[in-house]
Amino acid sequence: MDLTSRARKILDQNWKGGFTIPTSKLYPFQWHWDSGFVALGLAHHDLEKAITEIRSMFSGQWENGLLPHIIFHSENEKTYFPNYDFWNTKVNSGAPQHPKSSGITQPPVFGFVLESLLTLYGKQNEEVVDFVKEIFPKVLKYHEFLYTYRDVEQEGIFFIFHPWESGRDNSPLWDQPLNGIDLETADIPPYTRKDTAISDASERPTQDHYDRYVYLLELGKKHQYDGPGIAEESPFLIQDCMMNAILIRSNKALLNIAGKLHLDAGNLADWQAKSKANFSKKFWNEDLQFFTTYDQRNQRQILHREIGGIVPLFAGVATKAQAAHIANYLRGIHERGFYLCPSFDVDSPLFDSKRYWRGPIWPQMNWMIHHGLRNYGYSELAEIVRGDLIELVEKLGFYEYFEAEKSKTSNLEKGYGGNNFSWTASSIIDFLNA
Ligand code: GLC
Repeated sequence: MDLTSRARKILDQNWKGGFTIPTSKLYPFQWHWDSGFVALGLAHHDLEKAITEIRSMFSGQWENGLLPHIIFHSENEKTYFPNYDFWNTKVNSGAPQHPKSSGITQPPVFGFVLESLLTLYGKQNEEVVDFVKEIFPKVLKYHEFLYTYRDVEQEGIFFIFHPWESGRDNSPLWDQPLNGIDLETADIPPYTRKDTAISDASERPTQDHYDRYVYLLELGKKHQYDGPGIAEESPFLIQDCMMNAILIRSNKALLNIAGKLHLDAGNLADWQAKSKANFSKKFWNEDLQFFTTYDQRNQRQILHREIGGIVPLFAGVATKAQAAHIANYLRGIHERGFYLCPSFDVDSPLFDSKRYWRGPIWPQMNWMIHHGLRNYGYSELAEIVRGDLIELVEKLGFYEYFEAEKSKTSNLEKGYGGNNFSWTASSIIDFLNA
């Protein structure tokens, strides 16, 4: 079977009658940004499913606009921690109870996902146009949530209060902010992790960090997941470069859609102008020649070269000179025998080529970075980023993430984390069929 057919089969298997799980066992529900990438892949061969996928995601949107990071479509599935009962979103009266959800968010991908549906099918396709009109106000409302509840200084740059919101759960970016949490005095309820029973513990976050994830979850709950107390109290208060870049990319998509379909975009143009004006000031670091992430609690940039710092190219928010530095950096890594794009600085002592977000290659990241490099005219490098993912999947299978060091893959028979992974399948479908 060719790669596209294998990928479609995986999406079929992971389809649970209305939404797609990232992979069986490890992640048995619908995840926010996974779902966006899945819709991108589904759109190529099954418009109905792509539409249903997105509708299912938004069926869990809160009254305040929050689009949660997990939608628990089934309340009988007991193999996941933290499940809906642990999140207990009843603390917020605007949280839907059918379906239940978590109380935090994930990267805001749905603006650009909607735009790609429209691009793929064209303005003449009534079904797609009607659907885009239906979801557009919901995406807008979600962006309004980020600008209203997550932007303390009103600078157009929103914060996250939990590493899981970033989509890069155990990135070394979060080590310092997490280690700064004094758990001796903090109160965390007893809990049992489920991930290490399913996946190899050496590929998963450490126990110390897991305790802190639970502590931050409890802090969110205490403040109804949207209260001002979160920004006041959370020791983990981060303005993440990647998430804000994705927001800008999605804003741009919504503004394009509004123009094409004559929709009311409310205050979006003003928000977008503010976000773009402050982006480089906040995140660019001249010494590193790289975009960093900002620790708002401690008022400092987190000085690492991490994969999120490449995503501004996808948003078109980097200058030509900034993009050139990043392209050089990627070329250098490629020439030294790494697959593109490692999720963390290969020269840092914190780099770990197999542990989750501390080094490995992630399919959906390659998808965004490929498009980012193309935006700035680096088509050869963009092809390497695309080709590396295709090669890894051909060699090692449709895994969640992959070894970053080429020399190590000759001894490997498979990738890392979950197998038959949905966004891996989707990224491959889009790479091979766009
Ligand atoms: C992990 C990843 C996150 C992803 C989720 C489901 O938590 O870090 O980015 O959304 O798994 O695939």
